[in-house]
Amino acid sequence: MGDRLEKLFSSDAISAVVDHLAERISQDFDEEEIVFVCVLKGSYIFAADLARKVKAPSAVDFIRAASYGNNMTSSGAISITKDLETDIAGKNVIIVEDIVDSGFTLKEIRDMLSRRGPKQLKICALIDKKAARQVEVQCDYVGFALDDGFLVGYGLDYAEKYRNLPDIYVVHKT
Ligand code: IMP
Ligand code: MG
Repeated sequence: MGDRLEKLFSSDAISAVVDHLAERISQDFDEEEIVFVCVLKGSYIFAADLARKVKAPSAVDFIRAASYGNNMTSSGAISITKDLETDIAGKNVIIVEDIVDSGFTLKEIRDMLSRRGPKQLKICALIDKKAARQVEVQCDYVGFALDDGFLVGYGLDYAEKYRNLPDIYVVHKT
């Protein structure tokens, strides 16, 4: 059994989309300070690229949620395995997520962070798999929308493989 990878978004296309997201965020926040909350592990490359392109001053912190094992479906049971170290009360927070699928992970993180009293809490997702949504989560900034397919590359993994690939691919099991 191997994986066949089919290229979906090139690194150039990703870069253009990240530029566009960064421009919108820069306009919305102007000189106001932002705390980027990078959702580990999948968002580490996206967050690094995005933060370097946004003009507003920013800090970064990391959170990690577990739900996926080594398969391609979400269990719906989310546990936070690494929390923020930053006090976000009164701050402008943008959750940076690689991909929203069922929505369980992002809903858990958003609800938890909103209870901490941020000034603003926004969500920026590189990819929105809308058709897979099982719980409602509104994303303020979305890079790519697609219906389904399991994606890897640019931080996204399948069983910890392929995160380092510069482009994004659909995985076909062979
Ligand atoms: P959700 O809770 O079902 O929305 O799943 C969200 C998390 O599952 C994301 O943060 C990803 O880490 C992971 N995930 C969802 N879809 C994919 C995919 O197509 N490729 C790689 N990881 C994915
Ligand atoms: Mg993720």
